[in-house]
Amino acid sequence: MTELPDADRLTALVTGATAGIGAEFARQLADRGLDLVLVARDECRLRASAAQLAERYAVDVQVLVADLTVPQERAAVEARLASAPIQVLVNNAGFGLPLDFDLNPVDDEVRQLDLLATVPLRLTHAVLPQMIARRSGTVITVASLAGYAPLTTYSAAKAWAVVFSRWANAYYRPAGVTITALAPGFVRTEFHERMGIARESMAPRWLWLEVEPLVRAALRDADRGRAVSIPSLRYKLLSLVMGAIPMRLVTANARRTRWARRR
Ligand SMILES: NC(=O)c1ccc[n+]([C@@H]2O[C@H](COP(=O)([O-])OP(=O)(O)OC[C@H]3O[C@@H](n4cnc5c(N)ncnc54)[C@H](OP(=O)(O)O)[C@@H]3O)[C@@H](O)[C@H]2O)c1
Repeated sequence: MTELPDADRLTALVTGATAGIGAEFARQLADRGLDLVLVARDECRLRASAAQLAERYAVDVQVLVADLTVPQERAAVEARLASAPIQVLVNNAGFGLPLDFDLNPVDDEVRQLDLLATVPLRLTHAVLPQMIARRSGTVITVASLAGYAPLTTYSAAKAWAVVFSRWANAYYRPAGVTITALAPGFVRTEFHERMGIARESMAPRWLWLEVEPLVRAALRDADRGRAVSIPSLRYKLLSLVMGAIPMRLVTANARRTRWARRR
């Protein structure tokens, strides 16, 4: 890790870069030769990832230790985005909640909504002016296919990411900035383990995606200027089916699923 990156080099900032999808974004962006700013809460893990990536890909890797749901800590990340060129921003950090809306502590619901919607909104707002000024930049926000269905605060926040990215991509593409929502289905990461839910209880094995091809597809879709990236044929088809089914049927099914799990 060096102190002062070369002014001509491109830099990517990835939130939630220590595990799962974010760690793979960091790896593939480093493989493309971009310097990195990695953001997450666990400092030891962040530093270990940074050292590994710096050594393997010969790029400059900085770390920003921040809980993005804490305003003062998030402000440091916003300041970094506004103060020096960032070519790629990946809004990825997120977590799920294991219980029904009425059973989760309300503060956890608010923190989740914050991390999945308010934080990407604020970080995108912070980075956009310099991207527009350079007429170049990419913002990828990790949404979810859950954003296509009415399923708790989580899916409402992910729906925000999809709708916002569709608008923002149409609006800012002429200014040279691509804004893409990545909307995967089930992905093998630490996400469900952190919720205390066994993966096998969530979905059959064939529905689970691996992070490597998922991130590769997302970066390819962003390179092509797409507003939404849905990795894998099976989830592309599923998204079409979900779009075609009347909303009252999707809602009825969502209710059954939640109540079944609660009993
Ligand atoms: N896995 C899936 O099935 C799936 C499907 C669709 C969408 N997604 C979305 O994909 C994104 C990444 O999830 P993942 O599956 O890769 O989960 P993961 O393996 O649990 O990784 C989550 C990352 O977010 C960081 N993080 C969590 N809370 C944070 C906070 N308050 N401030 C800063 N960083 C925080 C974690 O690091 P620290 O703990 O060190 O902070 C970690 O690096 C999320 O937005 C998730 O909603 C996941």
